[in-house]
Amino acid sequence: MRDISVLEISGGRAPAHVAIIMDGNGRWAKRKGLPRIMGHRAGAERLREIVEASVRNGIEYLTVFAFSTENWRRSKSEVEGLMNLFRIYSRSEANSLNSNGIRVRFIGDRSELEPRVYEAMAKLESATENNSKLCLTVAINYGGRDDIARAAKRLARAAADGEIDPDLVNEGYFAAMFDTGFLPDPDLVVRTSGEMRISNFLIWQSAYAEFAFVDTLWPDFTAERFETVLESYSRRDRRFGAAAS
Ligand code: IPE
Ligand code: IPE
Ligand code: MG
Repeated sequence: MRDISVLEISGGRAPAHVAIIMDGNGRWAKRKGLPRIMGHRAGAERLREIVEASVRNGIEYLTVFAFSTENWRRSKSEVEGLMNLFRIYSRSEANSLNSNGIRVRFIGDRSELEPRVYEAMAKLESATENNSKLCLTVAINYGGRDDIARAAKRLARAAADGEIDPDLVNEGYFAAMFDTGFLPDPDLVVRTSGEMRISNFLIWQSAYAEFAFVDTLWPDFTAERFETVLESYSRRDRRFGAAAS
């Protein structure tokens, strides 16, 4: 493990919150003549390396897209295989996450997951809740539109129950109702595999994010490639609507 990060060498700034659309597992497997699930397994292994690289590079929040609200359209066997991976990894990773000071949280609609899957997720969340080096948020059955719709439902219900004054609702108030209410907005959204779309990920939250689309398939996205993306981020000029200086 290197003790000086790429960003320190280049003098740049690390993004506080990086979000990643981990895409390309299926194509990676197909190229190797393997079943798609083997690509997902390789992808899960790669995530471990990227989490470690995030800690090394001073990132505070890493959010990864693991299963979208649209991914239920895949074959039953692929969906089941993915759910098994979420369950197995939630159990097997607890010790190493704890020894590295990593807190895990999940976003997405859990009510549609099998009990044994969401129970394993909830267990991992509570097992790691006192860690503070990096917050790893895993999006499972997550959709940006669904997040917004569920937040609207919570607000409407609170207003109907007389708990909130509708005139107090503004952007900040609304955003606090999202699954991501505990997170700052992402500074950088990375998508692997060459696709250049957001696929219903953090659509509200990434309003002012920087984007990086990389051609590498997720299982091939090494820490070194990730650090190249971080380095290019550190050279960007974020203006948030203000005039260039
Ligand atoms: C991303 O890889 C993982 C999930 C969506 C669960 P894909 O499975 O979408 O891989 P490709 O895009 O088919 O290569
Ligand atoms: C987005 O990838 C979802 C995840 C990475 C979990 P998809 O592969 O599902 O997205 P599309 O279908 O190419 O837009
Ligand atoms: Mg894909």
